[in-house]
Amino acid sequence: MRTVVYPGSFDPLTNGHLDVIERAARLFDRVIVAVAQNTEKHPLFTPEERCALVVGATRRLRNVETRAFDGLLVDYVRGCGAQAVIRGLRAVSDFEFEFQMALMNRKLDERVETIFMMPKDTYTFLSSRLVKEIARLGGDVRDFVPGNVGKALAGKNGVRQTALPKRK
Ligand code: PNS
Repeated sequence: MRTVVYPGSFDPLTNGHLDVIERAARLFDRVIVAVAQNTEKHPLFTPEERCALVVGATRRLRNVETRAFDGLLVDYVRGCGAQAVIRGLRAVSDFEFEFQMALMNRKLDERVETIFMMPKDTYTFLSSRLVKEIARLGGDVRDFVPGNVGKALAGKNGVRQTALPKRK
């Protein structure tokens, strides 16, 4: 059984994350989406909300599970019996940080491999940070996030409520 962990803040899940999850689910027997409880990014959504949004968007993918995690990623990966970590790479700008993190994780535990996957090219500009900013200012994020995430964003305090045009 090949298990892979896809860790992240997922604050919130975007279509880019979902695209990576779908690709990983085709390659591995089991994909664990590991939602970081403690992140220095002052998340908009609580860990429980972020997990629930991933669960809602991945329900149809039978080999995908969602769990919250705390502590060192390599410890978590080992505890899950996983062989590798997946990280999405959108552009060269992601590379430096991701490379540093992958090599540090390897230094911490050389059995944990990091695999980089590229989301569909139409998602290379997408980030949770931009999605939150657009939603906060009343913009339309429906092309960027799964439906359940769009609804959750609209329901958050501080997000400007605007009537969006009906979709065909
Ligand atoms: O979506 P993000 O914010 O880029 O995800 C970053 C995350 C959660 C994967 C990273 O911060 C992490 O692995 N945190 C767990 C703590 C840890 O192991 N830190 C050392 C990483 S080298």
